[in-house]
Amino acid sequence: NPIHNNLIIGKKLIYLPSCHSTNDIAAELVLNGLAEEGTVVITDNQVGGRGQRGTKWLSEPSQNLTFSVILRPKFLPVAEQFLISQMVALAIYDYFSFYTNQVKIKWPNDIYISSKKVSGTLIENAVQGYGISSSIVGIGININQTRFETARSTSLAEALGTTLNLQSEFEKLGGLLDAGYLRLKTMKQNQVIRDLYLKGLHGYQNSVKFNYLNERVAGVVTGIENSGRLLVKLEGKEGIYDFGLKEIEWVW
Ligand code: BTN
Repeated sequence: NPIHNNLIIGKKLIYLPSCHSTNDIAAELVLNGLAEEGTVVITDNQVGGRGQRGTKWLSEPSQNLTFSVILRPKFLPVAEQFLISQMVALAIYDYFSFYTNQVKIKWPNDIYISSKKVSGTLIENAVQGYGISSSIVGIGININQTRFETARSTSLAEALGTTLNLQSEFEKLGGLLDAGYLRLKTMKQNQVIRDLYLKGLHGYQNSVKFNYLNERVAGVVTGIENSGRLLVKLEGKEGIYDFGLKEIEWVW
């Protein structure tokens, strides 16, 4: 059901019992000029879910939330597009924080509970001139699923030991996303968004483990550039490393 109390996100909702990828459906709507800002495409059974860097997002039918939000953040300069990621990660982080204090954001916008992944986001932006003409924010949240292909995944139900109602969880998260987007729209609280994101970020000012050229080293996240580049200082190594490099990976 649509989220009537929201101002933008989820007022219009397209529900599909089953689909390939909600991001793909959302992209078609945008291409055909059919997508009002805030439209949500949501499905109970996503069979071709896409993740970052060409990975797959697997989600058991009717157990979890898999949806995409269509935004038109024309006010946002391309150089600031990472703010969308930060705002979305923060909304999901805040959503889980209602239930547990074991939540962490893993750069750029994965969410972990007790060192296991519980949510992933795939954001696909279209650029026009200096602004973002459309942003498709695809969100996968493991709510009730209990069996996973990897030991590194979890769900909210698994963390809490109780199942949850998908519609009411969608409304809670939708409310936070709506508020986050309104905040972003004012362009006056960008630094607040960046600071809150850093507060929830795994490894920020805190020693964690990395794989560096197949070697396990300790390191600290020292900051994030406005472009979204994550900066890491590795113990015993000179300089600051950009996390975008292939040589360096998280150990979790
Ligand atoms: C990741 O963790 O790599 C990102 C996963 C994103 C999954 C969501 S589910 C809804 C939307 N549709 C997709 O095909 N992917 C995103």
